[in-house]
Amino acid sequence: MNQPLEALFEQDRAHFMHPSTHAYDHEQGTLPGKIIRGAKGIRIEDHEGRQYIDAFAGLYCVNIGYGRGEVADAMYEQAKKLAYYHTYVGHSSDAIIELSSRIIDWAPAGMKKVYYGMSGSDANETQIKIVWYYNNVQGRPNKKKIISRERGYHGSGIVTGSLTGLPSFHQHFDLPLDRVKHTVCPHWYRKAPAGTSQSEFVAYCVDELEKMIAREGADTIAAFIGEPVMGTGGILPPPAGYWPAIQAVLKKHDILLICDEVVCGFGRLGSKMGAQYYGIEPDLITIAKGLTSAYAPLSGVIVGEKVWDVIARGSQENGPMGHGWTYSGHPVCAAAALANLEIIEREKLVENAGQVGAYFGTKLREAFGSHPLVGEVRSTGMLAALEFMADKEARKPFDPALKIGAQVAAAALQRGLIARAMPHGDILGFAPPLVMTREDADEIIGIVKHAVDLVADQAL
Ligand SMILES: Cc1ncc(COP(=O)(O)O)c(C=O)c1O
Repeated sequence: MNQPLEALFEQDRAHFMHPSTHAYDHEQGTLPGKIIRGAKGIRIEDHEGRQYIDAFAGLYCVNIGYGRGEVADAMYEQAKKLAYYHTYVGHSSDAIIELSSRIIDWAPAGMKKVYYGMSGSDANETQIKIVWYYNNVQGRPNKKKIISRERGYHGSGIVTGSLTGLPSFHQHFDLPLDRVKHTVCPHWYRKAPAGTSQSEFVAYCVDELEKMIAREGADTIAAFIGEPVMGTGGILPPPAGYWPAIQAVLKKHDILLICDEVVCGFGRLGSKMGAQYYGIEPDLITIAKGLTSAYAPLSGVIVGEKVWDVIARGSQENGPMGHGWTYSGHPVCAAAALANLEIIEREKLVENAGQVGAYFGTKLREAFGSHPLVGEVRSTGMLAALEFMADKEARKPFDPALKIGAQVAAAALQRGLIARAMPHGDILGFAPPLVMTREDADEIIGIVKHAVDLVADQAL
């Protein structure tokens, strides 16, 4: 434990294969690493004792902020009582029973059951299996394709990486699978044909979806999956009216709607889930991240009544569904989730996300709305982004090789702020813990202003 730092970094380079990391640069030591040793509230601390404001809540997940002893205590108590037992063949724990009812209370109307996993990716994997099973039970073996969206993010497994609509998750992996089709990303600022209003753009998105369904055949399409607000694709709130219009098309063609609430669920938009915020009526919902604020790995699939009825019928015809994970419904993770939800409810963090999120969005617009480097400022609740453009009037992006977004993120980091250079485009993303205050928001914006001005001086 008390090894000199250099030896520790050497071991890290020798044996730890990091996710989403340049393998060669890391091993050579040219990619500077960080060892995170502590965290409290919205701040984390590294191996040099340097503190950073984490304006991305880890990976949009630490909703209650860091260092909550209450959650650690709940996990400890649960581990002492019952650290593990499986949940196959009707086995339960007190914690998972209580949590399941609690999640249904958080969900929009019509939701029935919760199936558990450990990550957003495995939960979306379960979603697709459920959807395929649903159509097989109903004697519709051809109704299997899934429509996702360009720039959507749903994980990085085989199916879920296919659902993800970002080329870097497909290239070199022989993805996407044939059964996955990507329709248009609802980002008006970059995707709308010239001169198109927001409502005309919604009609365009609907038309593109209709054309895809006609091309493929509605009887071959099982489900549509979408995040209420796209996260990793660039933090893209949809234009007004988008979700009701899309949902009407799906209903018409008997296509299930999977709402991926991994980021938006549990308060981030200032509503319980994104579905309530946008009036979405999903058939299935994916949850993870904010469910435990990442104090323990836990994800879930919330199954609506319509799908549940078919699953129940399927078991009468075929026996138990052949799908299960060893750690499904893990009691220690359930205890973490219960303590986390308790904090979110007691401290009214959903309301805080709505109010302070709106303040943050307003202040971002004041600071950057007419900044020459910033083409678009976007925000909904505690999700926000700045998109940088070489020519904001002509909506002309920078040459990606200049890495403008990464430069701004690096300049902010220098001043003690973590904001995320999103993987697609020159976009700086914010998804702070829901405990952020107005003072924190002001401090964050002050640092970002310095960083953006610095990069603008060199780039423009
Ligand atoms: C909307 C969404 N779905 C799914 C996932 C995948 O979750 P995980 O990384 O836990 O597998 C993510 C991760 O960021 C996500 O943002």
